[in-house]
Amino acid sequence: MIYQKLGKTEVNIPVLGQGTWKYGENKHEAKEEIKALRFGIENGMTLIDTAEEYAKGGAERIVGEAIQDCRKDIFLTTKVSAENCSYQGVIEAAEASLERLKTTYIDLYLQHWPSAEHEIEETMRAMGYLVEKGLVKYIGVSNFTPELIEEAQAVLGNHLLACNQVGYHLNDRRIENNILPYCQGKGITVMAYSPFGYAPSFFGNQGFPQPGTKERAVLDGIASKYEKTAYQLALNWILRQEGLVTIPKAKTINHIKNNLEALGWKLSSDDAAQMESLFPKPQEGLPLQMF
Ligand SMILES: NC(=O)c1ccc[n+]([C@@H]2O[C@H](COP(=O)([O-])OP(=O)(O)OC[C@H]3O[C@@H](n4cnc5c(N)ncnc54)[C@H](OP(=O)(O)O)[C@@H]3O)[C@@H](O)[C@H]2O)c1
Repeated sequence: MIYQKLGKTEVNIPVLGQGTWKYGENKHEAKEEIKALRFGIENGMTLIDTAEEYAKGGAERIVGEAIQDCRKDIFLTTKVSAENCSYQGVIEAAEASLERLKTTYIDLYLQHWPSAEHEIEETMRAMGYLVEKGLVKYIGVSNFTPELIEEAQAVLGNHLLACNQVGYHLNDRRIENNILPYCQGKGITVMAYSPFGYAPSFFGNQGFPQPGTKERAVLDGIASKYEKTAYQLALNWILRQEGLVTIPKAKTINHIKNNLEALGWKLSSDDAAQMESLFPKPQEGLPLQMF
C-alpha cells in the first residue's frame, strides 16, 4: 500500500480505500460484504468510507462487523447527513453512528453535503465539540466548494479541516478547476469518490466507459501496454494528483484485487495526456449544491 498524510496532520492514510455505498441494503449479502471489506483490509485498504445515509445505517453496521477485531488498524470515515446538521443533530448523529459502528471513536467525520437548512456555524461548532470529547479525531466535509470551506474553517478556529470528499473521475474533472487546486494549496486532503463514475452527477449517471465504445477502446489500448485493465488505468490516473486519495467501492473480491493492482506503477505523461484529451476538462468548476 502507498500512504500519504491526512491534511496537515501527522497521520498516514492509504491512498486507496474502500467505499461502502450500496453496502448493507440486502441482509443476504451481509456475509459477502464483510468478507470483501476484510479482504481489502488484509491487503492494506484500511481506509474505510461509510455514511449514516447508506442503507439507512445498514452500511455502518456492516463496517462495524468487519472491523471488530482490527479497529485500531482502521482509518474510519463516516458522514453526518445534511438534514442532521443542527448543533444537536450532529452530536446525536455521531453517537448513533458510533453505536452502529461498534466503536468509541470516528477517525474522520464529514459533513456529507452542504446544508440548505442549517447554518454552517452550528454544524462546525458541533464538530469541534465532538473532537474535544474524543469521539472524533479529525473533521472534514464533502461536496464543499472553496468558499464554503473558508466559512467552515473560520468557525473551526484551531481545529483544521483535514479533508474534502468530492466526486472525481475521467468523465467528471470539474474539481480540477476549483476544489483540487484550492485544497492542494491549503493542505486539505481531497478524497475522490466514484472513481469509476458510478454515482449520479450533474453529467448523469454515466458509469464506466463500456466495451464497444471508442473511449473504452482507447483506455483498453493504453492499459494493455502496462498489462493492466481500463479500471486500473483510471485509478492510477486519478492518483497522479498530489494530495489526493480515492475510495472505490467493490463488493467483489476480484474487483478489490484488481483495484490493488492499480498501485505500484507509473502512467507515462504521454499516456495521461492521451486520456485527458479523450475526457477533456470542462470549463466550469464543481458548483455548490445544497441539501
Ligand atoms: N460523499 C459523497 O457524496 C459520496 C457520493 C458517492 C460515493 N461516495 C463514496 O465513494 C465510494 C465509491 O463511489 P461509488 O460507490 O459511487 O462508485 P465507484 O467506486 O465509482 O464504482 C463502484 C462500481 O464499480 C465496480 N467496480 C469496482 N472495482 C471494479 C473493478 N476493478 N473492475 C470493474 N468494476 C469495478 C463495483 O462493482 P462491485 O461492487 O460489484 O464489485 C461497483 O459497481 C462510495 O461507495 C462511497 O463510499 C461518496
